[in-house]
Amino acid sequence: MAESMKGLCRSCRCAEVTKEMIGSKVTLMGWVQKARDKGGIVFVDLRDRSGIMQVILEDGVVSEEDFVKAGKLRAEFVIAVTGTITERDAKNPNIPTGDIELKAESLRILAEAEVPPFPIEENSRTKDEIRLKYRYLDLRRPDLQKNLMMRSRIAMLTRQFFAKEGFLEIETPMLGKSTPEGARDYLVPSRIHPGSFYGLPQSPQLYKQLLMCSGYDRYIQIARCFRDEDLRADRQPEFTQIDMELSFVDVDDVIDVNERFLAFLFKEVLDVDVPLPIERITWQEAMDRFGSDKPDMRFGMELHDVTELVRNCGFAVFTGAIEAGGSVRGINAKGQGGMPRKKIDKLTEFVRGYGAKGLAYIAIGEDGTRKSSFSKFMTEEEMDALVKALEGENGDLLLFVSDKTKLVYDVLGALRLEMARQMDLLDKNEFRFVWVTEFPLLEWNEDENRYQAMHHPFTMLMEEDIDLLDTDPGKVRAKAYDIVLNGNEIGGGSVRIHQNHIQERMFEALGFTKEAAYEQFGFLLDAFKYGVPPHAGLAYGLDRLVMLMAKVDSIRDVIAFPKVKDASCLMTQSPSVVDEKQLGELHIAVTGEEETKE
Ligand code: AMO
Ligand code: AMP
Repeated sequence: MAESMKGLCRSCRCAEVTKEMIGSKVTLMGWVQKARDKGGIVFVDLRDRSGIMQVILEDGVVSEEDFVKAGKLRAEFVIAVTGTITERDAKNPNIPTGDIELKAESLRILAEAEVPPFPIEENSRTKDEIRLKYRYLDLRRPDLQKNLMMRSRIAMLTRQFFAKEGFLEIETPMLGKSTPEGARDYLVPSRIHPGSFYGLPQSPQLYKQLLMCSGYDRYIQIARCFRDEDLRADRQPEFTQIDMELSFVDVDDVIDVNERFLAFLFKEVLDVDVPLPIERITWQEAMDRFGSDKPDMRFGMELHDVTELVRNCGFAVFTGAIEAGGSVRGINAKGQGGMPRKKIDKLTEFVRGYGAKGLAYIAIGEDGTRKSSFSKFMTEEEMDALVKALEGENGDLLLFVSDKTKLVYDVLGALRLEMARQMDLLDKNEFRFVWVTEFPLLEWNEDENRYQAMHHPFTMLMEEDIDLLDTDPGKVRAKAYDIVLNGNEIGGGSVRIHQNHIQERMFEALGFTKEAAYEQFGFLLDAFKYGVPPHAGLAYGLDRLVMLMAKVDSIRDVIAFPKVKDASCLMTQSPSVVDEKQLGELHIAVTGEEETKE
């Protein structure tokens, strides 16, 4: 029978009790982690979000009635116990409250509980699907509670830091205009305007630029964003940004305040020192050295360009790629020269998954003998030169890919990470930041046969590249920057275009007519006519930042109620079919098969 709270008041949380409180009387409330009946005495591990306290319920110390109740306690019952904090005889060094216990004088059962579908414990081995269906139980587990408490603290410290720096927190609408940029928009049908839809924001980008036009000069928002794109471990359809915009600034100003923010956050939350300034590399350098625009800098294994060395060799795979305008590059997996052939074949399969046609290798034995998949096409001198170029030593494995350069980057970038995983080079306790700057302004869209903005159409280009916009648009560099942590893009931003004539040339390069540009972004272009300050900004993916700080592998573990791969919620069973009446009010008819859920 569940009892009421009448007359009871919780003194503090379980693990907030300290040794100094020995002798004092307290009331604790929480969930029964474990109850052991030893005959005449019942031991209870009482749990709340702070941790565990051992409670002793002894016949004679508690009333007969309460002792009968104690005998009924099972896991996940919610109870209140009042008693005295005493020193333990048998100490438990594994928990913070291991030196003390609560000698109960009275007990109330506030709620009984059915046997949960899985045990509530740290490092659960229960299948994801079951945990997500019962997410409210999963969220009782100490590891998830720690993550969400850390997330709350990070949000609080973020507000604290930026408030001190003179930023204003301003909310922007969820129901806005659909302006699909990178991803697909989530749409909300209008009841009042038949056939019209709001778009949920992919980011507050346009609003924050308008706020700069309106003179708010430093804006911040912890903003929910929506993107209808394929889910991955670091992507959810709704996620949270720490979004900001600043007026009267250039690249260095944005970088400066954000470096100080990151250093503050990591010191406060993890006691980690982030050395400032954070290293900056250009996008081109990131690609050349790491094959990625979000390089993991915790380890080396950099790419080497060997195109010139093999330009005239006898291996048609290499020369063919070069003749077609591509390149040949390689990495040195130190100490992996003894890798068995079968495992190398697995690596070949791995790179094929990224579009490579094959993987050429030189395995150097501890005695200096070489095994290679392509030596028969090469002279001894050419092989020596390749080994030298990759700084190959006895025991090393050299891996080469030739193709279009963009593909070579992608493949070797992925292979570099795969080798680091296999070689155990990725330490979650190490935090290596890098700014990647000077991104290309435009990228070629093969399907639509036109350039598109790599970041977004309002990103400013580097002044020295302005004339390339007409002659060689692909070469124009943007004043855009990403902040990368351990190979994850945790944030990105840019300086924005605030001069009309440059914006017009940009739209032209993107293949927009003036009318089309106005149709989509008219309100912004009009606003810019009335005095717009130079401005720039950045947004972090809060979920990714918390994921890395909490040292977990998926943003799902730092979001209270996440969605699964097909963008559904296993707990609430959303999305769901709605009734005809609701659809009718929204002027919507569903064509095609409706999904039936089992
Ligand atoms: P961008 O599109 O790079 O920039 O997004 C900023 C950051 O948001 C995070 N992020 C995501 N996190 C989880 N799930 C997703 N689906 C997801 N998509 C993005 C990433 C990313 O770095 N308006 C610009 C910012 C600006 O220019 O100021 C923007 O949204 O960590
Ligand atoms: P082949 O002559 O096709 O048997 O190829 C010889 C070696 O070159 C094999 O190890 C292939 O995996 C490798 N190879 C094939 N295509 C490429 C490529 N584009 N880049 C690097 N190696 C390749």
